Amino acid sequence: MQKLITGTVLCLALGLPGLGPALAEDEFGDFVVAPGAEETYYACIACHSEKIVVQQGLTRKDWDELLDWMIEEQGMYEPEAEERRIILDYLATHYGTDRPNFPAH
Ligand code: HEC
Repeated sequence: MQKLITGTVLCLALGLPGLGPALAEDEFGDFVVAPGAEETYYACIACHSEKIVVQQGLTRKDWDELLDWMIEEQGMYEPEAEERRIILDYLATHYGTDRPNFPAH
């Protein structure tokens, strides 16, 4: 069933280019669509919703420590240095202490 739904959405996205951008906005859940969103999304939703990520507002240093916590205590795989940099850049840029993307709901 899940496959069926995914397939349908994919067909819609490919068949109706006009709807492409609208669908793309939902592609990474609540994550802001920007460079690094894809890497971050797939690294985090392996275990939990992106919603608990977007409600945080942390400095880059605190995100760095949170990643250590995910890896050391929660069993997250250890990303390569380059992937970790991309994820950290994304989180620090879009989910910093000023919380520019704090969810309204
Ligand atoms: C291997 C599983 C796993 C992965 C992968 C993972 N997490 Fe988590 N994460 C957890 C668990 C388990 C908790 C709940 C920990 C707790 O509250 O004791 C959690 C909690 C959190 C919290 C809430 C912390 C709080 O103060 O309540 C944040 C934020 C978070 N994760 C961010 C991330 C981010 C960002 C990523 C991806 C880069 C990520 N996690 C990937 C397992 C994971």
